Amino acid sequence: MNSSRKITHIINGQPTSDGDGVQLTRIIGSQELDMLDPFLLLDAFGSDKPLDYIGGFPAHPHRGFETVTYMLAGKMRHKDSAGNEGVIEPGGVQWMTAGKGIIHSEMPEQQEGLLSGLQLWVNLPASEKMTQPKYQEHDKHQIPVEQMEEGIQVHVIAGETKNGTTGIIKNELIKPTYWHVYMNENRRFNEALPHKHNAFVYVIDGEILVGDNEVALSKGQLGIISEGSSIDIHSQKQSQFVLVAGQPLNEPVARGGPFVMNTKQEIVQAFADYKSGRLA
Ligand code: CO
Repeated sequence: MNSSRKITHIINGQPTSDGDGVQLTRIIGSQELDMLDPFLLLDAFGSDKPLDYIGGFPAHPHRGFETVTYMLAGKMRHKDSAGNEGVIEPGGVQWMTAGKGIIHSEMPEQQEGLLSGLQLWVNLPASEKMTQPKYQEHDKHQIPVEQMEEGIQVHVIAGETKNGTTGIIKNELIKPTYWHVYMNENRRFNEALPHKHNAFVYVIDGEILVGDNEVALSKGQLGIISEGSSIDIHSQKQSQFVLVAGQPLNEPVARGGPFVMNTKQEIVQAFADYKSGRLA
């Protein structure tokens, strides 16, 4: 059956800081929106004031999920306890599977100028939480771009468009969709999404009307969209947004700071492993 998705909630996010004083807006993973299964957290950071970002995210651990860093402006250097290191540049993505454990730092590769991007946390199913850590890291030029029609362009990080453009990220666990869509003023975007996947739109810039109920979303707002097989978006002005969807895991979630497991006992174990150096 064909059904068009609608906006069910609008989330504005909460200003907070994390790491060593990095100013950011927490959009998923706050009191306003605890999670949107399988998405555990979404942070948006963006500032041209060095004091807002210069402290970065010094060494910290993760276990039990994936972190997805998508840079919009500026550069971030990533280093981990296994000796992996790299710089994520604008338009580049790092999809890191923390699995059984990793200790990493994420530090700005600049002293001044604009730094902005998004970090999304994607849950892993119980069977994969203790998997070996791995990375999928790609520069902007490696991410497939589809020109849908004049004035609509989509950077396909994950998932597949109606026209068959397939994202660079491989993930069979939640079969994610992660598209960065650019629209000129007064264009109409219509795409298919897997019917039962949870989905959201986050507006990076501009203003759009989303769903067949045409709910307005503007810069910095996230819209949760209902189940359905397709999504309609109408740009009110020149706009860009990310459209993200994934198959819900429907498993219990136990959180403890940088660890996300299924039970409280597993969280206690993660802290013990970290303390004793067994995490990575
Ligand atoms: Co991290």
